[in-house]
Amino acid sequence: MEDRILNPAEIAEDTENDNPLRPQTLGEYIGQEKVKENLKIFIDAAKFRKEPLDHVLLYGPPGLGKTTLSMIIAKELGVNIRITSGPAIEKPGDLAALLTNLSEGDVLFIDEIHRLSRAVEEILYPAMEDFSIDIVTGKGQMATSYHLPLPKFTLIGATTRAGQLTAPLRDRFGVILRLEMYSPEQLSQIIKRSASILKIKINDEGALEIASRSRGTPRIANRLLKRVRDFAQILGQGEINLKIAQTALNKLDVDKLGLDANDRRLIETMIKFYGGGPVGLETLAAAIGEESITIEDVYEPFLMQIGFLSRTPRGRCVTQAAYLHLGYKNQNLQTEQCTFE
Ligand code: ADE
Repeated sequence: MEDRILNPAEIAEDTENDNPLRPQTLGEYIGQEKVKENLKIFIDAAKFRKEPLDHVLLYGPPGLGKTTLSMIIAKELGVNIRITSGPAIEKPGDLAALLTNLSEGDVLFIDEIHRLSRAVEEILYPAMEDFSIDIVTGKGQMATSYHLPLPKFTLIGATTRAGQLTAPLRDRFGVILRLEMYSPEQLSQIIKRSASILKIKINDEGALEIASRSRGTPRIANRLLKRVRDFAQILGQGEINLKIAQTALNKLDVDKLGLDANDRRLIETMIKFYGGGPVGLETLAAAIGEESITIEDVYEPFLMQIGFLSRTPRGRCVTQAAYLHLGYKNQNLQTEQCTFE
């Protein structure tokens, strides 16, 4: 997983604050039209009323631009943003420190918000609802409680699945937005925009080829663009065209649909050892040596999006389309339990 070029998890290269590929305004942000349209109204209305924007929950698979969108929201509101993540806030005191350092109207962005501890989450409830926190110091008879008012702020939480959030936390978000995977055409636009910023020459066919193999994810598209550029500079004339893109992506072991060796191994394992399913998540995780959360958050969203995998009450099933893509030629390869679910 670590060395995977298709891993949508962020790496330093993606997160550098001065990453020139990040769009700065809603106008520059390609795709997610519905989300952008609604956000623009909410931002304009908050500015009109001179109030902070209501708390926003962004959810969807990794790599679709949740952090980027949060930075844009702060910029469009004309406020500062503090960026942190669920696992980074270890103690209630860590969150209290973050909250008390905000200025009126600021955005606090908490990535992976489903990973907050219970104790920290409980501080967040009154902070979100009443803009205040209660801090207890000392123990037993020495315990003292302080009621601390906070500046009015906007919390933006990001998670891979809204269902992972506790109900009381989810209910405190006024705006809940789901980010969708991008179409190859949208990814192609993003790739051409990135290429122009990085001064990479690329034609339409080359961009669409990279886009089609980027599993619906801008972060992967931008990463593949940089790797394909290496091939173009060393094996070609520096320009990315269809042929160079195909050669490079084949060498990177990214197939026509964007599956890499790990995706293929997952499907092959299901076919060879479990007759194509149904197979339980934990069984599958043990068989391929990945954590079940990685399978759920990283592998499955895309495999389900392209109709290669289905989740049934009895377990995961490989679809007919996946058999055919992997070169299995016989008809009706699915087990009955998978076909009639
Ligand atoms: N770079 C990464 N995601 C992007 C998007 N949605 N629009 C424009 N550029 C991007």
